[in-house]
Amino acid sequence: MSPRPPKLAEEAEELSTAEIFWIVKHGIKMTGMPAWGPTHKDAEIWDIVAFVKKLPDMKPAEYKAMKLTATDEGEAEGRQGPAAGKIDVEEKLQR
Ligand code: HEM
Repeated sequence: MSPRPPKLAEEAEELSTAEIFWIVKHGIKMTGMPAWGPTHKDAEIWDIVAFVKKLPDMKPAEYKAMKLTATDEGEAEGRQGPAAGKIDVEEKLQR
């Protein structure tokens, strides 16, 4: 990809929460960074901002544990089995 997507943990330390919110909501013109505003409520975007802000001091084990407990509000209908109502954070990031 060009320009290269940033390393989120590094980016999180340099940007303010307001800047991250704006970027996630509106995307970045002339790059592949999509705007999440049209498909996500502000409250959901703030959740993403909180996650990005946490990344620099998150240990791999904590990330893993979070993946296991994360719930997918409203989007998990139709899922079955032990993973019902839970979502893979990576999956969420890739959407
Ligand atoms: C907060 C700072 C962030 C910055 C500065 C940033 C910037 C960028 C840039 C420069 C690209 C690649 C552009 C290209 O190759 O054309 C990109 C791609 C992407 N970003 Fe971000 N991003 C940020 C956060 C996020 C977050 C939090 C998410 C997820 C919620 C996200 C989701 C994506 C996705 C899915 C793509 C790839 C789009 C595609 O081509 O399929 N970004 N971003």
